[in-house]
This record gives sequence, structure tokens and C-alpha cells, in this order.
Amino acid sequence: MLNVKLVEHPLVQHKISLLRDANTGAKEFRELASEAAMLMCYEATRDLPLKTVEVETPLGTARSKVISGKKIAFVPIYRAGLGMLEGALTLVPAAKVGHIGLYRDPETRKAVDYYCKLPFDIADREVIIFDIMLATGSSAVKAIDLVSKAGVKSIKFMCIIAAPEGVSAVNNAFPDVQIYTGAIDEKLDDNSYIIPGLGDAGDRMYGTK
Ligand code: URA
Repeated sequence: MLNVKLVEHPLVQHKISLLRDANTGAKEFRELASEAAMLMCYEATRDLPLKTVEVETPLGTARSKVISGKKIAFVPIYRAGLGMLEGALTLVPAAKVGHIGLYRDPETRKAVDYYCKLPFDIADREVIIFDIMLATGSSAVKAIDLVSKAGVKSIKFMCIIAAPEGVSAVNNAFPDVQIYTGAIDEKLDDNSYIIPGLGDAGDRMYGTK
């Protein structure tokens, strides 16, 4: 049984269909990725703890709720994950942001980090790491490893499309990390692209191919 939450909201599903469409250009792709990330972030923050406070309204005292737990940090994985950041920050503007850059070693096919800059107080925060695609899981596992070695106790991973292989890889390496995805596709091809997926998310987002 995979430990993954499928975000089935109609608005998310509609945007994913437009993202998949090969005729969607870079500008629209960026807008859609950001909007989908914002909506998915709504789901990924649903379990934030609340506490009751008393607020003086113009007409009396209200017992009302405010977020009581740790503050949030977002960590996009370069390149494509960066396209989800703006949408996530629209929802949680006060979140701090870490950056992780990874490339795939052509021989070992493993993710290698070339950049990692995290907020100094990240260990005191709840962290949501994101990337558009969760393919083999190698980048996700590496990013989660870097964040957990920085002392973070609560980590979520959010992507727009996942392959079953990637979900299994993250579940096996980090069973406590909850994955949020908008779709779980069929499989990976020989080049580790998700089928049917949406192609190369970075290239489509930045028009590099
Ligand atoms: N990265 C992408 O951009 N697309 C895939 O299908 C897999 C990994």
C-alpha cells in the first residue's frame, strides 16, 4: 500500500490536463504549474494544528482559531520545482524558502546536489519540498535526505505528477514523509520519463527545447 495522497479536486485535475497538453506553451505552462501548486498546497496544509484564541470584534468577544504549530518552509527542487514556488507563496506568504539544486549523474543515474541553501531556522519549521514530477524518486529522496539532515522533523513532498516507481522509492526511504500528488501515472520509460506524464517539465516551463 502506497503512502500517498491524491489531490482529486476538480480545479487541480483540470489544470493538470492543460499542463499535459503538448500544445500548451511555456507562458501558460508556468501559470498553470503555479496555480496547481497553490491549490495543492491548500490540501498539504489541511492538517496544520490550530489553537483557540479570543478576539475582540466591534461587537463582542469571539473564540476563534489561529495556526498554532511550527511555521512553514518551502523547498523547491531546481529547475522545475521553482515553477511551483510562487503559487505556494500566494497561499502562505510568510513561509521561508530553501533552494536545492540537483543533477543526475549520467553514469550512476543518481541525483547529486550542486546547491543547497536552507533557512537557518529550518529545523524549527514544517517543510514542504516540491518538484513537478516524481519520476524515479532519486531527486526526491536526495532532497528529503538533505532537509532531514538539517534537523527537520516534519517533511511533506508535493508533486504534480508521480510515477508508481517514485512513490515507492520515497515511501521505502522515508516512510514518514507524506506525498501529495495530482496524478499517479502508468510507468517510467527507458529514459526515466513518466508515461504519459507531460514531457520534460523544465524544458516546457522555460522553453528550453
Ligand atoms: N522529469 C520530467 O521533467 N519529466 C518526466 O517525465 C520525468 C522527470
